[in-house]
Amino acid sequence: MWGGRFAQGPSAVMREINASIPFDKLLWRQDIRASQVHARMLADRGIISAADAEAIHDGLDTIADEYERDGVPEDWDLEDIHMTVESRLTELIGPAAGRLHTARSRNDQVATDFRMWVREASDAAIAGLDALRAALVRRAGEHADSVMPGFTHLQTAQPVTLGHHLLAYFEMTGRDQSRFVDALDRADECPLGSAALAGTGFPIDRHQTARELDFFEPTRNSLDAVSDRDFALDYLMAASQCALHLSRLAEEMIIWASQPFGFVRMPDTLSTGSSIMPQKKNPDAAELVRGHAGRIVGCTTALMVTMKGLPLAYSKDMQDDKPPVFEAAALLELCLAAMTGMVAECTFDTDRMREAAERGYATATDLADWLVREADIPFREAHHITGAAVKLAEQRQVALDRLPLEDLQAIDGRIDERVFAALSVDASVASRASYGGTAPEQVRQRVAEAREALGLED
Ligand code: ARG
Repeated sequence: MWGGRFAQGPSAVMREINASIPFDKLLWRQDIRASQVHARMLADRGIISAADAEAIHDGLDTIADEYERDGVPEDWDLEDIHMTVESRLTELIGPAAGRLHTARSRNDQVATDFRMWVREASDAAIAGLDALRAALVRRAGEHADSVMPGFTHLQTAQPVTLGHHLLAYFEMTGRDQSRFVDALDRADECPLGSAALAGTGFPIDRHQTARELDFFEPTRNSLDAVSDRDFALDYLMAASQCALHLSRLAEEMIIWASQPFGFVRMPDTLSTGSSIMPQKKNPDAAELVRGHAGRIVGCTTALMVTMKGLPLAYSKDMQDDKPPVFEAAALLELCLAAMTGMVAECTFDTDRMREAAERGYATATDLADWLVREADIPFREAHHITGAAVKLAEQRQVALDRLPLEDLQAIDGRIDERVFAALSVDASVASRASYGGTAPEQVRQRVAEAREALGLED
């Protein structure tokens, strides 16, 4: 393609280091579509003949059929997907194929193809998040009243409802979705027609190609357009944040599935056994989601470091933009599917959760609050009195609400029998009815709103 100036061909190492076809063949659909739109515009503007544009269009259709059927051939001499397609087009339609590259360069071509690909990856992530969020809301609705220990420092803190806990992830994944939406919005400009770096002398219509490729508008600066990979980084950063959230959920599932916790049983379909310990059921899918988050963050770091310090405009370093994005997108899709299945199909052991909440003196704050409210004791003093009650309950190995009234009164005479109404875990969660609190009534409201937002019917 550029042999005119060269006396010798590339060495074996040059061919190998230069070839991006092993990975950028994933862009074939975008490349063919963008070329068809480009050829049509060239004909509309009288830059190439209608007959050539039609031959190019039909030839590209044939290539699409071939790739669909047989895959994309990998010839290192053709470097990348752009030259692979063009070379096949030349075989199919002859010299007219050589007119396709008028008024463009591989620099604006790859920027356009890749944007289109990343846009689809964002759409896929948004759809995957929709499925996960629907599963979270359904399970939250089932468990609006199920009491479990809420933790800080992974120490039992206060009772919460399982529904409330699941809805925390609904919020996190909602922000993740909005980051992908935001990334899509910023990526909605078409680089095609920026040519190598400076624009072109041909009378092209960039608005037409932008429109026909479903972009909102053409990019406004050709130098920026061919050297900008913000859209890929925006995607990767959104994917990283999302992966972190999935990893936290996975980590909780792993902890909850462990025998000392026993809060959840993983679905068989997302677990594995051990080859030597027959009793084991391992949460491998969750562990891999946790692990993959590391790889996705690694992909983001890889492209950030690739881009830092590159002068304008295009440099070949930028060919390395694709593997991390492709890798992250494939991993994220798997992670979303795995977590959706896990949330939808796991079995929560709500008896175990309740027992754990009762065992951990999770209602100690409720006792202190009761003393403040009903006996007008300053909170710091109430905290102290409650500490003594917890110590006593610990010695007797009973829950706070199982301590006899006399014993509580021996600690502080201002306590009376009404306190027991506040000390059960159910009373505790029901009392936390502030907006966004854990009370079943609040959870049910949030679930109703979430169902409405997602358009869930069943
Ligand atoms: N395969 C190249 C890439 O992905 C296409 C652009 C090549 N441009 C060039 N000036 N050599 O970056």
